[in-house]
Amino acid sequence: MTTRFPDTFLWGGAIAANQVEGAWQEEGKGLSTSDLQPEGIFGKRVERKPGDFSIKDVAIDFYHRYPQDIKLFAEMGFTVLRISIAWTRIFPQGDESQPNEAGLAFYDRLFAEMAKYNIAPMVTLSHYEMPYGLIKNYGGWGNRKTIGFFEHYARTVFQRYKDRVKYWLTFNEINMSLHAPFTGVGLPEESDKQAVYQAIHHQLVASARAVKACHEIVPNGKIGNMLLGGLLYPLSCRPADMLETLQKNREWLFFGDVQVRGYYPAYMKRFFKEQGITLAIDAEDKIDLREPVDYISFSYYMTGCATAKENQDRLRGNILDMVPNPHLPASEWGWQIDPQGLRLLMNTLYDRYEKPLFIVENGLGALDKQEACGSINDHYRIAYLNDHLVQVREAIEDGVEVWGYTSWGPIDLVSASKAQLSKRYGFIYVDRDDDGNGTLERKRKKSFYWYQEVIKSQGESLK
Ligand code: BG6
Repeated sequence: MTTRFPDTFLWGGAIAANQVEGAWQEEGKGLSTSDLQPEGIFGKRVERKPGDFSIKDVAIDFYHRYPQDIKLFAEMGFTVLRISIAWTRIFPQGDESQPNEAGLAFYDRLFAEMAKYNIAPMVTLSHYEMPYGLIKNYGGWGNRKTIGFFEHYARTVFQRYKDRVKYWLTFNEINMSLHAPFTGVGLPEESDKQAVYQAIHHQLVASARAVKACHEIVPNGKIGNMLLGGLLYPLSCRPADMLETLQKNREWLFFGDVQVRGYYPAYMKRFFKEQGITLAIDAEDKIDLREPVDYISFSYYMTGCATAKENQDRLRGNILDMVPNPHLPASEWGWQIDPQGLRLLMNTLYDRYEKPLFIVENGLGALDKQEACGSINDHYRIAYLNDHLVQVREAIEDGVEVWGYTSWGPIDLVSASKAQLSKRYGFIYVDRDDDGNGTLERKRKKSFYWYQEVIKSQGESLK
């Protein structure tokens, strides 16, 4: 078995605007859904009053400190960096016809900095945030008009960055709307399934339109979808558990099925009928949907189990709740650790779609301790990432085509589900605590040097 990853394999990390940038009201940025969720994506939505604290307002101040951070990523050897554009920097309310030039200029500067070090940008158009104006004035993705606003935004950024950015993604973890409707589709948390699936339909059409626009505008551009890879195992081999697992996995695979195949899968007809859901789907929507993504990207943190038994204990990951697997250990936040699950997931997706994959999130959120001398010995993170990357290599041996790997949070950032900075993912430590105290100084952890070696050796240093 070969120990080296393919020479073309891209290595890097992934961050999201609302979890790193801060500068929440600078240079014309509008209010986003994330600005209204100081407690994280499941937290209560609040009206912001002057002086109210949200850790995200400054986050890790990437907006001002990006040159230094990009330099550190380059030092690790990154060849790709996944970022997201804050939609509200470009269209503060969401429905403007003209973009905010200051917002566009910020990303020009960021991409220019990355180009200095030959780091290829990968850009998510919408990562857990959208303009609040679109919710207040239009009802978010519940309104068909939002498709047009999103398409306008997508076309604007494709035009502006077409020479700099070749890898694009539409919606981060598009399947999470089923579990956090405000974050995903801008609907009230208590919305019924009819409303949520209608909003999801609009978002799927918008995603397909963005794929089309990218193909028209960006020379050699590649655009993918982004799934939360929530693979479930049957809790037992009882047929009822097997069937439940099939159904539960379809809940998230449904999104990939539409985005890759270009139409709704047959199994959804029965589901919609049984749930009393009737979707308004235009003839034009059906045509729009027929624009498949070029590659499939996904996040992977954990697996879980499914069972037909009622009242089984459940475990909450960042989005999904799952039945715990008795054979797996868990992180300090209770997320079960399953490196082999990554190989299984990659094979599942590749068998199903036969499209290239990109692993755009994977990592361990942990409490890091500074030693008396100031060093951070995050051996647990090294072990986690090593074991997952070994499974990526196995999947490549299995024949799966994978373009690259961006670990989640290469620099400490604000957790999406908990809005904590103490849940750290980084190779780079950021001096800031959950209450906002700290100098924001950056420091290399032990894992920094480990990842540097992995990249340099093209995976050969993995154990
Ligand atoms: C993914 C999200 O769900 O998981 C990221 O795309 C998020 O935005 C990551 O940060 C890890 O989750 P958390 O809650 O630990 O930040």
